[in-house]
Amino acid sequence: MQNTILGLETSCDETAVAIYDSARGLLAHQLFSQVGIHAKYGGVVPELASRDHIRKILPLIDASFDEARIEPSALSAVAYTAGPGLIGALLVGATLGVGLGMVWGIPAIPVHHMEAHLLAPLLEDDPPEFPFVALLVSGGHTMLVAVRGLGQYRILGQTLDDAAGEAFDKTAKLLGLPYPGGPELATLADQGDGARFDFPRPMLNRPGFDFSFSGLKTAVMLKVREFEAEDALTDTVRADLASAFQTAVVDTLVGKSLRALDETGYGRIIVAGGVGANRVLRSRMAEAVEDRGGRVYYPRTEFCTDNGAMIAFAGLQRLLARSAPDAADLTVQVRARWDLQEI
Ligand code: KG4
Ligand code: ZN
Repeated sequence: MQNTILGLETSCDETAVAIYDSARGLLAHQLFSQVGIHAKYGGVVPELASRDHIRKILPLIDASFDEARIEPSALSAVAYTAGPGLIGALLVGATLGVGLGMVWGIPAIPVHHMEAHLLAPLLEDDPPEFPFVALLVSGGHTMLVAVRGLGQYRILGQTLDDAAGEAFDKTAKLLGLPYPGGPELATLADQGDGARFDFPRPMLNRPGFDFSFSGLKTAVMLKVREFEAEDALTDTVRADLASAFQTAVVDTLVGKSLRALDETGYGRIIVAGGVGANRVLRSRMAEAVEDRGGRVYYPRTEFCTDNGAMIAFAGLQRLLARSAPDAADLTVQVRARWDLQEI
């Protein structure tokens, strides 16, 4: 049976809508990034995020139907991000999703944002088969998950403090880069010499799979202060610091990922979430995993960061697994915090 799903993503600072069809693939993908709205505050302002989701989501839904050249009557379900995320922002997509489900007489499926990131590589041609290890690295989360199948997730480890993307963003701020700093820091690092500074590889020499990035950020801050005190924080130093920081994060992520492949005995790993767009991480991970006969899978770069396609796709998997609510269920489900293992 053919299923067509409308996906709504409003968990943070991207308003995103997509339409995914089980037979024809991705039919539409629309996104508005609020970066310009939050940039002057140096971070996401939750209330501004919610208000702008309200402004943008209906036009993006209209644009998605135009792009897909279908009518709402062709839909089988509406999927919306139910959490984790900013509660007010989540409520915009959730109440609209449930409302549309009600008027169109189709189920409204609550989707776990991290499950959607985790399944995003399955949107690509030649997708990974289960089981695999998932390294989820975003602005809000950093975790290694053993994935046996849909909904069969065992969290091997996660960050004890900052998420990898958060560490990128905060370090970028220390280096005077504009928000959102992750991609900016990566660009600056391209011009730097990472070998000039030897930053700690947090938790890499400890057993287990947990991460900690706040000490690394502090190490960079101390260096920045040292150079500032001598009025010597040149562009070259900033680029070298950026590169050394990035190398330390990538070493840690790759090291723990290889350990997760050892522990599970799996040969496949997927890397998803915003930091998965990092070029150095992608190439170093591919090299390390392929060296041992394994394979790395990524979503295309635009589906590493938040998007509607992954929500529509995850919603379809839930519908097919018959773990979606029926059309009469009008419960709006949102959870700011939501453990991936609970779904
Ligand atoms: O998955 P995502 O779009 O949103 C969350 O769910 O958090 O991830 C956003 C995070 C931000 O911290 C951003 O700085 C980081 O991903 N990011 C990057 C790169 N592109 C985005 N970090 C490092 N290198 C990049 N190229
Ligand atoms: Zn995300």
